[in-house]
Amino acid sequence: MMRLGTQRVNDKGHLEIGGCDVTDLAREFGTPLYVVDEDLVRQNCCRYVRACQHLYPDGQTEIAFAGKAFLTAAICALVESEGLSLDAVSAGEIHTARKAGYPMSKIYFHGNNKAVEDLELALDLNVGRIVVDNLQEIGLLDALTTRRSQSADVLLRLTPGIDPHTHKLIRTGQADTKFGLNIKDGAALEGVRRAIASPLINFRGIHCHVGSQLLDTDAHEQSAAIMVAFMKEVQDETGVAVEELNLGGGLGIRYVESHEPPSIEEFASRIITTVRRQLARRGLMPPKLIQEPGRSITGEAGTTLYTIGTIKEVPIKEAPGSRTFVAVDGGMSDNPRPGLYDAVYTALVANKADAPADWLVTVSGKHCETDTLIKDAVIAKAAPGDLLAVLSTGAYNYSMSSNYNRFPRPAAVLVGGGKAELFVRRESLDDLVANDLIPERLRSRVASGGGVRRHS
Ligand code: LLP
Repeated sequence: MMRLGTQRVNDKGHLEIGGCDVTDLAREFGTPLYVVDEDLVRQNCCRYVRACQHLYPDGQTEIAFAGKAFLTAAICALVESEGLSLDAVSAGEIHTARKAGYPMSKIYFHGNNKAVEDLELALDLNVGRIVVDNLQEIGLLDALTTRRSQSADVLLRLTPGIDPHTHKLIRTGQADTKFGLNIKDGAALEGVRRAIASPLINFRGIHCHVGSQLLDTDAHEQSAAIMVAFMKEVQDETGVAVEELNLGGGLGIRYVESHEPPSIEEFASRIITTVRRQLARRGLMPPKLIQEPGRSITGEAGTTLYTIGTIKEVPIKEAPGSRTFVAVDGGMSDNPRPGLYDAVYTALVANKADAPADWLVTVSGKHCETDTLIKDAVIAKAAPGDLLAVLSTGAYNYSMSSNYNRFPRPAAVLVGGGKAELFVRRESLDDLVANDLIPERLRSRVASGGGVRRHS
């Protein structure tokens, strides 16, 4: 059975995370509940920082947490305390970081379609780096910096033309993508020229991100080599040295036992070895090296607890002739990933964690459509009221959650050392209607009683 971070089974046969019995968590905070293993998040941050500092000249490395994986004020505070910078991709993410007191100078601001207001916000707050995606944005930033007489430190997002082995919706390094400036067709070099020519844009370096949930380092090694070759081209063509090289995120995690991603150390080592070899080959000075992991920082640290409700057996044509649906009290609104990416997950009955897992079921949600969470889960025999834990839900779950079917978003707790602290409050039914307005003309019809229109 897959156990992640501080997960263990206690002598009551219950799953424990961060020293907390999850049945106590469910009782205190309700379900569905996102549980985050603080030690594991800290450990992952630390492993990235250490591995990179160790392997790269003068420790000239920086790890930026990709906030899109799981961003709340507490997570900002947590990653900041581990010395990580932050990759933010919207005004909302920047605002969250700001509310958490996160230093704006440590933000990399991404986005393929930043609005003028987004760029103004970044300039108002002096975010550390604006990662410019396209030539249009360079023009916009040139005009804005000139108008405001304010400089901006910039990285250019490039497309290395690599097609990684992962789900088609989370590949971004290939040429046919909405992201970045293409290296092969000359757009990237043109971008560098324009950035350098702009009086108040400080061209600092280049960025790429090839894809997510990658279980090998092939795409990263190829893209690192292409990026270093491009650094050389920039230097030869413009005389400007690229000071910063940001290679994005992408390291995969274990969703199921058969997933065997490289360790953080192995991942860092393979990328850094490639970068160093290519730099040496081309006679370039080492730039500052930045990585932006998201999933591999928080993913395995998250577990979603659900209460099992309806259990139903239906006849099916294929063997074994029937399917057992186990429905839980959440689903696609707290985890849209199975529906979007055919994502797979591991589940266990958290209050029977020591019982043999030999019951083949389909775990479904309670939304008004076929929101299968796990098609074939093998769990311990369970009954309504039991707790189901779905593992590896710490990345792109809360951050992609919705209010579909008007489901309130679950609460989230940080666990560690036997203590649990709420860091995202559960939405209430009133939160769901907090932004709803009834135009006066509709309101008065309802209020006066005779509001129902006749359909003659
Ligand atoms: N940097 C950039 C510029 C990115 O676009 C991303 C992810 C990352 C870093 C972090 O990648 P990670 O280390 O987490 O793989 N919603 C999808 C994943 C989309 C990833 C988007 N970009 C999912 O649930 O699988």
